[in-house]
Amino acid sequence: MRHAMTVTIVAAAIFAVQAAVPADEAKLKAQLPSIFEKAADHYRALLEAMKAHEPDKFPKRFQDGKLVVIPPKDWCSGFFPGSLWYLYEYTKDSFWKDQAVAYTERLIEPLRHDASNHDVGFRTYCSAGNGLRLTGDKRYAEFLHDTSAALRTRFDDKLGLIRSWNSPKKGGGHFGTKYIVIIDNMMNLELLEWDAKNGGDPKSDKIARSQADITDAHHYRPNGSAYHILDYDPDTCRVRAHYSGQGGNVEGTWARGHAWGIYGFTMMYRETRVKRYLERAMSAADYWLDEPNLPEDGISYWDFSFVGEERDISASAVTASALLELQEFAPPSKAAKYRAAAVKMLTAMASPAYFAKQGENGDFLLMHSVGHKPGNSEVNVPLNYADYYFLEALLRFSRLAPLPEASVDCGYAPYRMDDFYWENDHFGMRAYGPVIMEPAPKGQGLVSSGFDLFNKCVPYPVLEKWLHGTEGSYHKNHGKGMDNYKVAAGRGCGGIGALNRDGWFHEKNWKAQRVISKTATEAVFELEYETYTVRGTVTAGTPFMRFDVTPKGEPPARMIGPGLDISAKRQHDGLVKIDLDNGFIANYEPEGVDGKENGSILTAIVLAPGETRPVMASDAEGCIYLMQPLQSFTYWVGAGWTGAGLFRTPDEWYACVRDFAKRLRAAK
Ligand code: GLY
Repeated sequence: MRHAMTVTIVAAAIFAVQAAVPADEAKLKAQLPSIFEKAADHYRALLEAMKAHEPDKFPKRFQDGKLVVIPPKDWCSGFFPGSLWYLYEYTKDSFWKDQAVAYTERLIEPLRHDASNHDVGFRTYCSAGNGLRLTGDKRYAEFLHDTSAALRTRFDDKLGLIRSWNSPKKGGGHFGTKYIVIIDNMMNLELLEWDAKNGGDPKSDKIARSQADITDAHHYRPNGSAYHILDYDPDTCRVRAHYSGQGGNVEGTWARGHAWGIYGFTMMYRETRVKRYLERAMSAADYWLDEPNLPEDGISYWDFSFVGEERDISASAVTASALLELQEFAPPSKAAKYRAAAVKMLTAMASPAYFAKQGENGDFLLMHSVGHKPGNSEVNVPLNYADYYFLEALLRFSRLAPLPEASVDCGYAPYRMDDFYWENDHFGMRAYGPVIMEPAPKGQGLVSSGFDLFNKCVPYPVLEKWLHGTEGSYHKNHGKGMDNYKVAAGRGCGGIGALNRDGWFHEKNWKAQRVISKTATEAVFELEYETYTVRGTVTAGTPFMRFDVTPKGEPPARMIGPGLDISAKRQHDGLVKIDLDNGFIANYEPEGVDGKENGSILTAIVLAPGETRPVMASDAEGCIYLMQPLQSFTYWVGAGWTGAGLFRTPDEWYACVRDFAKRLRAAK
């Protein structure tokens, strides 16, 4: 019993999903009206303060007791109008719309054809883009098509990149560079994607993809962190040099630059559905969230290498907003991690540690941003873009669908025929009951105690609906996953095999089934076979589940163990990893097994560490087994699907299974 408990606890720890604690979300949700009320009060005061400034200016920061304002051509001019649009979006109060219209108007003529640097999207899409979305005003659309055209002029066809800013001709910073491209540039691609999809120039989309592809190829280190500035040689298309720019050193990670990448690649995935962009966004997000130097509240230092120095709330606001979009596209376990992290960051931002009191902080919302520390500029001050991305993140949060109440399920499904099914947020399975052994029309004449697999890409239960047939055929992926695995009379994924004197002995279909317990995160059930009972425990947040097998009476077997069908390996050049020292077999069943492009299937069996080393065996049907002398035993089944995105290659799957098996053994 002690042993069994240890195994359960270890499995939970290995795959502990940082699930958003619904209580945190509920708390933040309850706070939203008062956060927006305070934000509106602050910005009313800021609008009052702006009356003392010329009518073509925009508030940017508050420093040394003074409100610093900027002209339309500053890269930050679009954020204040954008924040006004967000206040209008939340409050629906026409006061904010009037203010947003007035401030957006100030940008239109000065910026319509401005191509002096790459920051066109920041200035025009954050302002007029939101205005267009919320009002449908055609003037904004015309303006945005014009500014897209201006941005396209900065694209070099041979290099495939937009030039961020022009290299200085005489001395000064970046003198001697040839073609500067910065990670921030990812943020300007949303404007181009909008242009291409809304009657603009189709080249806008090609440019945006090219910029994203080359940024993906060159702007990231192997650990997933972003460089800030790259200088390219336009003749050879090679990277000439890396610069730290606003970061602390060239191999360090400037937090806001890294944040622009998370946001930019998430947005590009939304716009194009190019998987590579999603992968980049996730690896960049994982770098941020897994970085040991990230403070507990999720608000980073201005540079990840400058631990203990100023935080940069602007970088965290960008990241929080990006994570809330990324969690919509990420596979379940990652989605939960991103959502929980964003909620934690927003909760911190809304607290007195970062959210200013009325009348302080120049009436900007958030304190503690860093613009350019190496240039000793804008250090630990409020900045208008921190407010903009904070408000955007809050709006995204306010629209989030509630977390599914449960991520596991199990039950009897007589409505299909005679299945018992179980599932968690990674995969689903079923085993066949006695009716299925009967000939048609009642059954289908199938004798099988194998386990069938369902591949999922949503974190909530779907099998009951699939088996009811209320969501169309589960042999087709309608967006939640599908059954493209074949068990038939084989062992499938973890069905049990026994050996006696005469050879293989496989049980028939289960005789009885029982749900033992069910909570939102764990389901326990029992399947009664003629010669043994199997207790299954399926837990949320892990691609593994546990089976405890108890032989009954004097079963006609000497050896017993789980089997894994690898017949598809031979037909489709799949890959199998067998590791008897660590007690596992892992299989990668490549795409095309079902004759279609439906994703590759990953399966595994892992024996709990026992007294004896497992023995490998195989049968004529293409199944391999981990056998041991007949006794009660525990094993684990693992399953994944490339269609869910968490595992993509055989090696990723093998590493995951090996790690799981090793940790089970270490905890013995
Ligand atoms: N795009 C300039 C900055 O992030 O400071």
